[in-house]
Amino acid sequence: MAIETVGIVGAGTMGNGIAQVAAVSGLKVVMIDLAEASLVKGMATLTSSLERLVAKEKIDAATRDAALARIETSTDYQHLANVDLVIEAATESTELKVCILKQIEASVRADAIIASNTSSISITALASTLSDASRFVGMHFFNPVPLMPLVEIIRGLQTSDVTVQEIRELTSRFGKSPICVKNAPGFVVNRILVPMINEAFFVLTEGVATAEEIDAGMRLGANHPIGPLALADLVGLDVCLSVLDVFAKDFGDPKYRACPLLRELVAAGRLGRKSGQGVYRYE
Ligand code: 3HC
Repeated sequence: MAIETVGIVGAGTMGNGIAQVAAVSGLKVVMIDLAEASLVKGMATLTSSLERLVAKEKIDAATRDAALARIETSTDYQHLANVDLVIEAATESTELKVCILKQIEASVRADAIIASNTSSISITALASTLSDASRFVGMHFFNPVPLMPLVEIIRGLQTSDVTVQEIRELTSRFGKSPICVKNAPGFVVNRILVPMINEAFFVLTEGVATAEEIDAGMRLGANHPIGPLALADLVGLDVCLSVLDVFAKDFGDPKYRACPLLRELVAAGRLGRKSGQGVYRYE
């Protein structure tokens, strides 16, 4: 089966980025969210990202217009009835994802593939809540989706070879490079990246240096494109915290304890760029 139509559940940072990449790659896209307002916001972000790419001459105006024309939005899961693949990109909560995956499975064709863009939740455990676990796979994109070349393809214990192969081919059509990884908390990239971000919050808490100095240190001393605290703001502090909480629970190792400052900022609603303030303030 060649994947030609993709459903995306969740119009937030990751969902609208995935929708953009899929539409630019020539696929028809149905983007679903609970609220119409979230769909409007997601489409606005996606449109301004396409504008930036046109302004930088990475794509032309005709490609932008064709991509936008391929995207349909809806609050109704029934619109997923004819898609070949659904990518779930909702908030990082096991209960919520299980609930959404069940709704997706009830709405799609029996041969459609279902993928989750989870950052850290077990693909094997999510798969086991579906009646056909072999068609379920992890498809983990990186923020900002239009720019980051990697997709981690995560194989749950039940994922079939055919499913992995289809997703591998689609990832290449998206112009992205896949790595295939086994199911494990945080997979590969977040397992390494998020503890580094957490450590930056401990360094900040201890007053070892200011946020700007910590970030400059990692940019200039380790050649990272942005510092770990600015990266936390880009990823979302709530996402970083939920990844750490999954690590703490699933590994049972205290080294993954989330920094109290990170927890405090999330409790205050300072989630990073998306809320206008995280470690830093944004216009
Ligand atoms: N859409 C289109 N273009 C965009 C864009 C977007 N969403 N965001 C940035 N750009 C473009 C800008 O227009 C600019 O173009 P130019 O180079 O042609 O002028 C270019 O990207 C650089 O943007 P900026 O000058 O604003 O900022 P930076 O130089 O800092 O680059 C970045 C931005 C590419 C995001 C860079 O900071 C970076 O690579 N950061 C690290 C990102 C990263 O590590 N992501 C992974 C996070 S982990 C994750 O997502 C997993 C999850 O599960 C937690």
